[in-house]
Amino acid sequence: MAKASAPGKLILFGEHFVVHGLPAIAAAVEGRTIAEVRKADGFSLVDDRPETPGYKKDKGGQQADSIRLMFNAMRLDASKARIVLGGDLVAASGVGASGASCAAIAAAANAEFRLGLDRDGINGIAYEGEKGYHGTPSGIDNSCSTYGGFIRFRKSAPGGKGEIAPMDSKAKLSMVVGNSGITSNTTKVVEEVKRLKEKDAARFKRICDDYVKIANDAKMALEDEDLPEIGRLMNMNHVLLREIGVSCKELEGMVGAALKAGALGAKLTGTGRGGLMIALVSDETKEAVASAIAKLGFKSDVTGIGAEGVKVLR
Ligand code: MEV
Repeated sequence: MAKASAPGKLILFGEHFVVHGLPAIAAAVEGRTIAEVRKADGFSLVDDRPETPGYKKDKGGQQADSIRLMFNAMRLDASKARIVLGGDLVAASGVGASGASCAAIAAAANAEFRLGLDRDGINGIAYEGEKGYHGTPSGIDNSCSTYGGFIRFRKSAPGGKGEIAPMDSKAKLSMVVGNSGITSNTTKVVEEVKRLKEKDAARFKRICDDYVKIANDAKMALEDEDLPEIGRLMNMNHVLLREIGVSCKELEGMVGAALKAGALGAKLTGTGRGGLMIALVSDETKEAVASAIAKLGFKSDVTGIGAEGVKVLR
């Protein structure tokens, strides 16, 4: 039996824009998914990950497709494997739960079946797995779970693994993560953004141009550990995400409450239309921000970011 763990991720800047070829910045979170893979006589999957209620049932079909795609890509027979998923990463929309599980399964299968894949190879398999969850993923989620830390990511031509630049951010960032409790459908939301682009290409281009400035400034602000500037840019990024229609009233409520309670910046993270929001906080404001979100009836947690990427445990 082999065991591997991989972190979830938070997109700090550029969800959706990354699908359209623009650079995005993501960081690995402290919560991890652990995958155990062992040779067996028949296929079985036990999914013991903690979840936002309904998430695992909702994603069950996509998870089966994802495992099949990964085993095909590794030229392994999935009917000869037992997979057990666990760990402390709550499976929810927005935290890269699928990317983390793909990276952990790929690394554990690599160890169990002695495939000899290096980290890039594991990332390639995890990317295949992400296709099961949303047909045309940019690859940012699996890359962040695989390499960990902070990454600046840009999607490459279809099928390519993308440009992944580890970022040297020493900024100690604490995020409050607010969970709307709504599981979103990434394929559907990504599709709707594409339709918006087709409907009004000039407006979409204007929004993308504004976003690119934010992404470039964000890289510098992270490298300079300029927390107020990072927060300001997160707020600006959120406005653009709202403009492309991926926010919702639950996310707006949490973002507003977080800012009022003293967060340096707040935005939705990941697919949107449910899922998660993040708020950049200091030690002094984290409790107030987390409880402002909890008062609205949503779950909130504080997490550090920049955690280690996928690793084999045994
Ligand atoms: C999902 O975590 C991030 C999206 O940008 C989709 C993707 O990058 O594939 C919405």
